Amino acid sequence: MTSTNADFFGHPVGLRTLFLTEMWERMSYYGMRALLVLYMTGAVTTANAGLGMSQLEAQAIYGIYVGMVYFLAVPGGWLADNLLGHQRAVFYGAVIIALGHLTLAVPIESGLFFGLGLVAIGTGLLKSNISTIVGKLYAQDDPRRDAGFTIFYMSINIGSVIGFLVCGYLGEKIGWHWGFGAAGVGMLLGVVQYTRTREWLGDAGREPNDMPQAKRSALARWASIVGVAAAVLVILFGTGVIDVKASVFAENFAYFLTTIAGLYFLYLYAFAGLDAAERKNVLLLFLLFVAAAAFWSGFDQSGGSLNLFARDFTDLNFLGYDMPVSWVQFFNPIYVVIFAPMFAAFWAWLGRRNLDPSLPLKFALGLFFMGMSFLVMLLAVGVALESAPIGLQWLLITYLLQTWGELALSPIGLSAFSRYSPKRYVGQMFGLWFLASAIGGVLAGLLGGEATDGGLSSMSPIFSYMVKYYLGIALVLVVLAYFFRERSKESR
Ligand code: PHE
Repeated sequence: MTSTNADFFGHPVGLRTLFLTEMWERMSYYGMRALLVLYMTGAVTTANAGLGMSQLEAQAIYGIYVGMVYFLAVPGGWLADNLLGHQRAVFYGAVIIALGHLTLAVPIESGLFFGLGLVAIGTGLLKSNISTIVGKLYAQDDPRRDAGFTIFYMSINIGSVIGFLVCGYLGEKIGWHWGFGAAGVGMLLGVVQYTRTREWLGDAGREPNDMPQAKRSALARWASIVGVAAAVLVILFGTGVIDVKASVFAENFAYFLTTIAGLYFLYLYAFAGLDAAERKNVLLLFLLFVAAAAFWSGFDQSGGSLNLFARDFTDLNFLGYDMPVSWVQFFNPIYVVIFAPMFAAFWAWLGRRNLDPSLPLKFALGLFFMGMSFLVMLLAVGVALESAPIGLQWLLITYLLQTWGELALSPIGLSAFSRYSPKRYVGQMFGLWFLASAIGGVLAGLLGGEATDGGLSSMSPIFSYMVKYYLGIALVLVVLAYFFRERSKESR
């Protein structure tokens, strides 16, 4: 049987199933997300009519959406662990995502809320659980595991390239809802593919955790109660019975997420009965958590403020062709595919000389690049104030720096969380990693909204604030890295 075990680039053949499912899921996620703010802020009067929202409100909705997508990974992971099993969670997630995009494909304004809601719920079920199955394809000590995750990371980026190209073109050049529909069709292809090749996953993530039936039923009852309560809230918001401004909701959502994360860290540190070494690790993870949330608050502006900057102030004419605005974003995944092997080789090269930087230093490097990317934007705004539109090179350099930051920080984040978490808490800590993305997503919507609210002139203060905030946190990390020095040496 070993031959069927090594069918996908020398990896378990189940990796192929997950690779293609994640590729289609990210195609739909990034393809739709690239259009979202453009659609919401688009003029109502043009042929391809948008919703005519203000840039501030539209980005608040965008931030709430991205925040929800990653926040729901926490209950999604819990459901898979305890009730559904990861394979089923991924299946339901994929179907719900497809339904969400197809809802958005219907050209009515009220479809927006429910479509986005479905995509967020579906992604909550799919995104973290599919990575969990990747991990389960390998035995604990299988040396191919890291390479497996690297291959999987490629599927994310190949998927998003396709999404930006296809959904971006259809949505902007033909009609918004065609773009959303294409995302739905992509996810459906993923569903078909997943269903047909699911058997290749074997037992990986097939069943939830072992527990007595009575306990499982009790958990299921609780989950249903919470689920029904959440559904009622969603309907009250969706039908406008509870009416709040998106920007107000986004701010409160950011406080809510930060509070949960803060309380959880406090609990772990002070009340979970951990020994001194474990507590030190919790502090380290807290630091990485703050850094990651800050990082994503810049990174996720790609679909918000940077998208609007591309539309309003950048010359997108390429050899006589007016590119869709969303195409600018495909440089991030392209850069990932180009630079990921170089980063890996560089860390390995440093490692052989015993110079591999510690985790906090790598995170600091990620934030440094993010800070530099907004410095470039600051210069770009200056040039655009003189005479807009400006050349595409500014955004290309910005995305290059952000991608370098991503490569320094993102691939090691998850493994850091699994390695340094107190053993009993690994599952939840995985959820915390996604919570950092959730906080980053909401902040990206809020900061991006502030930045573009008053056109170019409101961008400079926000972007320069961001440069300072990134460099500040990076500096703190460098100083604190000193205290965690020995820890990270051990981990190599
Ligand atoms: N491009 C990555 C992805 O979509 C960004 C990301 C990393 C998102 C970690 C969430 C968590 O998967």
